[in-house]
Amino acid sequence: MTAREPRITTSRDLPLVAMQASVRNARTWAIDSIEPIELPNSERASSRRKACAYPSFVEPRMPLSLADSIELTRTPFDQLPQTALCQLLGVPYVHVQTESGDDLFLTQWGWPWLESLLPQNWYRDRYYKTSGTRLRFSSGAVYRVPIVGPRSLQVVVKFSRMGQYLDPSCLAEGARSESTAQEPNFSSPFEEVAALEQLRNSAVRPRVLTKRALAVFSPAERFEDWQLGRQLHQFERQARSLLESQAPSAPEKVALDPHRNYVVLFHWMNGVNLEECVEQGRLTLPEAQLINRMVLADLDRKGFEILDHKPNHVIVKFRRTGSLLQRHGRVVYALADFELLKLKAHAAEGATSGPEPLLLNGYGLRESFNDHGPVAT
Ligand SMILES: Nc1ncnc2c1ncn2[C@@H]1O[C@H](COP(=O)(O)OP(=O)(O)O)[C@@H](O)[C@H]1O
Ligand SMILES: [Mg+2]
Repeated sequence: MTAREPRITTSRDLPLVAMQASVRNARTWAIDSIEPIELPNSERASSRRKACAYPSFVEPRMPLSLADSIELTRTPFDQLPQTALCQLLGVPYVHVQTESGDDLFLTQWGWPWLESLLPQNWYRDRYYKTSGTRLRFSSGAVYRVPIVGPRSLQVVVKFSRMGQYLDPSCLAEGARSESTAQEPNFSSPFEEVAALEQLRNSAVRPRVLTKRALAVFSPAERFEDWQLGRQLHQFERQARSLLESQAPSAPEKVALDPHRNYVVLFHWMNGVNLEECVEQGRLTLPEAQLINRMVLADLDRKGFEILDHKPNHVIVKFRRTGSLLQRHGRVVYALADFELLKLKAHAAEGATSGPEPLLLNGYGLRESFNDHGPVAT
């Protein structure tokens, strides 16, 4: 590993009051504003100069250099040396820092794709926008991007709305009372991945298929508070919980930076969402509603809820004959969108109570879903 000069500023050097002052004027944003506002070039340069005057919120640490991480790429994730991993909210990541200071945190799912997920293959020059497609049904900045890099793959690039104003009208009915005591808020990228992994690993059956989180990316570029639109109290709580989740003895800690943007990368899932199914006449409205109820019941049994759940988050698959893929009489589905996935306040780890899973017969069950390739695993 190449030696790096320790950074001088730490989060301890940044008094709370300074952060409060810097975020005090942040505006509340509508749910559909996600990417930072673009400034004309001249203004952007001066804003960057100003932004650099802020003290860094990042504690000194030593992520892997690009060269070091590439040397390790042949090592399976579970055989990586402990020194190559950091544990954030219970999820292990490999933290790679590029020469320009971009941070890439790869999950076990993203690690085999390291070289393809490097920012030059999807982020530079807004490639995700020029070559990707903004996802229909999205309220934020969410793109499907084909990466052609060393190994091609399709990813979903999703800009995190952490700390931004969450319009209560976007929440599903009753979501507020059911969820944690906290005011509903967009998860931080690391909270989102942690909740997703918990849901995926829940011992309560049936297993819920989801898209996989491949990585969290934070470009080095710094932004003004008003460009990111984060509310201080929420951001600060999320930043604190990330710090607290790391071992006190950890020599280097990962901290959320109030002036940087965060992006979560997911694997693309093939299939059709329930809303499209109805639009395309593949399912009737009552059929789609029934499947949606099954999904909600599955989440409930596992002790989770998605505060802004919508039928378009549920992806199903059809066989060539037009029949819906099912396994053991249940429709096989996969879930997308975990920005508002929360563990219910009352849910104990490994809870087994809750409604019985619905069985959906009558959609022309054929062979198992797996022999057509999973929607996502
Ligand atoms: N990885 C994925 N694979 C397939 N479809 C996806 C994936 N991620 C999102 N989608 C589809 O795109 C829609 C919009 O994305 P979503 O993450 O829900 O955006 P937003 O958070 O803005 O609502 C989802 O409802 C889903 O239908
Ligand atoms: Mg959504």
